[in-house]
Amino acid sequence: MLKVEQAFKLPEGTEVSLRGWVYRIRKLGENKIFIVLRDVTGTIQAVVVKENVPAHVWANAEKLYHESSLTIKGTLKEDERAPGGKEVQVQELSPISIGEPFPIHKDQSEEFLLDNRHLWIRSRKMTNIFKARHHLINYLTEYLHSKGFYRFDPPIITTAGAEGGADMFELDYFGQKAYLTQSSQMYGEAGIFALERVYTLAPSFRAEKSRTRRHLAEYWHLEPEAAFVDWEENMQIQEEMVSYAIEQFLQNHPDLVEFFGIKDLHKDVKPPFPRLTYYEAVDLVNKLGGKMEYGEDFGADEEALISSQYNKPVFITKYPKKIKAFYMKEDPNDPELVLNNDMIAPYGHGEIIGGSERIWELEKLKQRIKEAGLKEENYKWYLDLRRFGSVPHSGFGLGIERFVKYVLNLDHIRDAVPFPRTVNRVYP
Ligand code: 4AD
Ligand code: MG
Repeated sequence: MLKVEQAFKLPEGTEVSLRGWVYRIRKLGENKIFIVLRDVTGTIQAVVVKENVPAHVWANAEKLYHESSLTIKGTLKEDERAPGGKEVQVQELSPISIGEPFPIHKDQSEEFLLDNRHLWIRSRKMTNIFKARHHLINYLTEYLHSKGFYRFDPPIITTAGAEGGADMFELDYFGQKAYLTQSSQMYGEAGIFALERVYTLAPSFRAEKSRTRRHLAEYWHLEPEAAFVDWEENMQIQEEMVSYAIEQFLQNHPDLVEFFGIKDLHKDVKPPFPRLTYYEAVDLVNKLGGKMEYGEDFGADEEALISSQYNKPVFITKYPKKIKAFYMKEDPNDPELVLNNDMIAPYGHGEIIGGSERIWELEKLKQRIKEAGLKEENYKWYLDLRRFGSVPHSGFGLGIERFVKYVLNLDHIRDAVPFPRTVNRVYP
């Protein structure tokens, strides 16, 4: 059995067997049926001519629906009218499953397609997104492996909140309250004392009612954490990782790059990425016509203004500690600020990374937990990490779907994941 992609490389006259699904089917007159057969590698046109095939083959071809599964056997013929310049002249055709009429046709509403997501993922656009996502995750982790990071798998069910505890999905864990994790950071921090450099790649859950093009209630989160790395080296790791993944993708997948039309968007993703301090970024927003006071956080509009000035991602550093998580290390030069960064993607895609140096001294961390209004008892084991052989360390979190949305320039984050979970969707 060949793949479609392989068949296209063979000369005219070769006999080929292929299997897959009916991508398109059309009867021409009384004696010809055109089937476009799809497999994971592509599509190829096949022609069944009534006079040239046994009666049962013709009868079967007539019964096929869009998305029926089948195998065909036939001869390759060059034909410039066929997509890709070749078609298969069918001799044999066996349905694997004819099934029922496929519910998805042209011009159906976004809602209908989301309700039928389990079927819609077969579409060419979705298939290409998932291929791209696969490769991008590979390149991200390949970079981390080359820098000595181990994959470290965290639990999904947890007790305390890594990001402060608001917006968590609660569940009944054998009679005890537990939560779906918001971030695996704290487990990654535990991991560095064994492995020095780790990353977690796991779902994070956010129960916030954000209905935007960039929020999911469940998303895949890549969270590297490294011992003996300060906030500046932490940013270098981020920009090198992002740059490596995009460059490898552009180099090795020209077909996908062309499908999404993204070559020009990523002309320059070489490090270093521009760095603005929080104050500089607020000033820039105001200069560009936005309206922001010091102490406020950037929303989507403000991020878009900032990133409009660049064609590669930009770092915003040293936020006021009041608007950031409790575990971030204070700036020794200004204790109102923290040694953190966000990475903002260009073209309005917004924040793709949040990272920081961590507070590594026990008393300091206890104090920040208190100031943030959190309960120390919820962070017992996390505090232990500062009690036994603590070391300076830093880490960051990249939202896989945000990254895929940016690299492929997608309109909506839900298309970056096969089965999106949003405020109003938990099916299929
Ligand atoms: O900025 P966040 O909330 O940071 C953390 O969770 C840290 N604990 C990460 C760390 O330092 N290990 O989330 C990090 C990233 C964001 O930059 C964004 O890319 C993504 O996670 N993200 C979301 N993606 C999709 N839907 C949401 N609701 C997201 N919230 C955050
Ligand atoms: Mg953030």
